[in-house]
Amino acid sequence: MSKTYKIAAIPGDGTGPEVAREGLKVLEAVSKIAGFKYKLKIFDYGAENYLKTEEVLPDEGLEELKKYDVIYLGAVGDPRIKPGILEQGLLLKLRFGLHQYINLRPIKLYPGVWTPLKDKSAEDIDFVVVRENNEGLYVGEGEFIKKGTKNETALQVSRNTRKGVERCIRYAFEFTRKRNRRKKLTLCGKTNVLTYAWDLWERVFHEVAGEYSDITTDYAHVDATCMWMVKNPEWFDVIVTDNMFGDIITDLGAMIQGGMGIAAGGNINPQGVSMFEPIGGSAPKYTGKNVINPLAAIGALQMLLYEIGEEKASEMVENAIIYVTEHKLKSLAAGKMGYSTTEVGDLVVQNLK
Ligand code: IPM
Ligand code: MN
Repeated sequence: MSKTYKIAAIPGDGTGPEVAREGLKVLEAVSKIAGFKYKLKIFDYGAENYLKTEEVLPDEGLEELKKYDVIYLGAVGDPRIKPGILEQGLLLKLRFGLHQYINLRPIKLYPGVWTPLKDKSAEDIDFVVVRENNEGLYVGEGEFIKKGTKNETALQVSRNTRKGVERCIRYAFEFTRKRNRRKKLTLCGKTNVLTYAWDLWERVFHEVAGEYSDITTDYAHVDATCMWMVKNPEWFDVIVTDNMFGDIITDLGAMIQGGMGIAAGGNINPQGVSMFEPIGGSAPKYTGKNVINPLAAIGALQMLLYEIGEEKASEMVENAIIYVTEHKLKSLAAGKMGYSTTEVGDLVVQNLK
């Protein structure tokens, strides 16, 4: 008997529910074609729930989510709520609480998609960022010294553990091998200034590289990485980096692949419960208008399917997305697609094969 996947969906805030609905529509359609079963439960965590209960994600909620095979997330963030509360209480609590220590972000320009990079096309922009997702500056450690005085100092700690760095780097090497494209892994850091953190990263990188003689390795400082991502994106195959640098360079990446309408990511615990999301925010000003692009959310679903082992279904979804970008949409921008959110979801469903 084949397995029935237990899938948890958190549509979240703003346009999150609109795009998640299209992703779930595609899930239902592709499950029938590819022949797999799943049970879906929708969780209403997010702004509304917080305003009602004064809790973002209670510990029992986190425990409950551990019983699922995978989580599908729409978006978090709401202008009524102080920035940081929902992001930390929901998104970061899930990433840390479920030990999703990898944030995987493909930067792939699909055919028919406009890029701001002149003279670059789909062949040139196709790489993946492996972002460390549980450590670095995101651990929330630090302190104020002499707060509120003229002599105030604020400390923000970047914690990099040997274990945390090594598991991320190993994942990146394995990923580069499995991806089997150019078999090149670039470490993106700042060894010239951040001499503790990046000394550790660099040592571990070279040590692990010794076990992967089939992979070409490279190093680029984070500032130079930004430069090359714009000027020569074709140089990259897989980039591995820490949490903060990964956050920044993947927004740049999202722009060169066509914008937030298409950029998707996975928060991965290779041994546990992973979570997939469009990387753009909740886009409050478009809420309820049925104009936001759901392809990023559908791309997140495509990554989810791959991770749970439904590789054929994942490929079908990606091919349908490519068909839609190449032959249907006028633009990926909200309100300029030539179709509504719902219609774009329908177009993907119609082109699954
Ligand atoms: C992202 C987001 C988050 C991050 C925010 C919302 C906390 O920007 O997923 O990249 O910084 O990781
Ligand atoms: Mn970000």
